[in-house]
Amino acid sequence: MKPDHIVFPPFIGDRMPRLEVHTTLGKRILPDDYAGRWFMLFSHPGDFTPVCTTEFVSFAKNQAAFQKLNCELIGLSIDTVYAHMKWIEWIQTQLGVSITFPIIADELGNVSRRLGMLPREGVKRTVRSVFFVDPNGYIRLILTYPDELGRNTSELLRALKGLQAADAHGVAMPANWPNNEIIGDQAIIPPANTVMKARERLEAAQAQKFSCFDWWFCYKDIPVRKKTDK
Ligand code: BEZ
Repeated sequence: MKPDHIVFPPFIGDRMPRLEVHTTLGKRILPDDYAGRWFMLFSHPGDFTPVCTTEFVSFAKNQAAFQKLNCELIGLSIDTVYAHMKWIEWIQTQLGVSITFPIIADELGNVSRRLGMLPREGVKRTVRSVFFVDPNGYIRLILTYPDELGRNTSELLRALKGLQAADAHGVAMPANWPNNEIIGDQAIIPPANTVMKARERLEAAQAQKFSCFDWWFCYKDIPVRKKTDK
């Protein structure tokens, strides 16, 4: 049980705290302004830093792919909105890439502190955090990367697709899905948790409704979204 008097950072499965934030595109209320859509909120250590610049360019170049999956991008760092504006202007002029997603100016660190994006008390630079929030406002995935490692956009897109497929089909996704070493692009049926269900599973597998290695390890085909799908 979490004690009432201490505010812990949220964890996966929790509702995203309601936060009013100031961004390069104006005020936003999280998660309410994104109801019905996914969003990926990501913090970076600071503006005008090279690894962060490579991440921003990669996220911007893949923004359409996220949006095709009904997911919006939101950046954040403990910098002013003016610093964010100058940095994205530099990215536009020097690298020819437009940053069109909003970036939260968390000058006082209030948002970062609430979400556990600061490594420890007194540090005023966020780690590379990623929060995926679903269309109902629930936090579904949290990642934390250190200063010295930029994030992998392909993995973020894979994670989003995996969560959406899991929701749509009531399944779980195996390691490296959709290229798993044992079952390829098939998905895992949550393990039977009663003796009766275990028996049903094996009977259904015998009737070729899906496949099982054993009562606790059953899997099936799901429609896989093709690269060309809208
Ligand atoms: C970077 O984004 O380049 C960076 C940020 C903090 C520490 C080291 C590198």
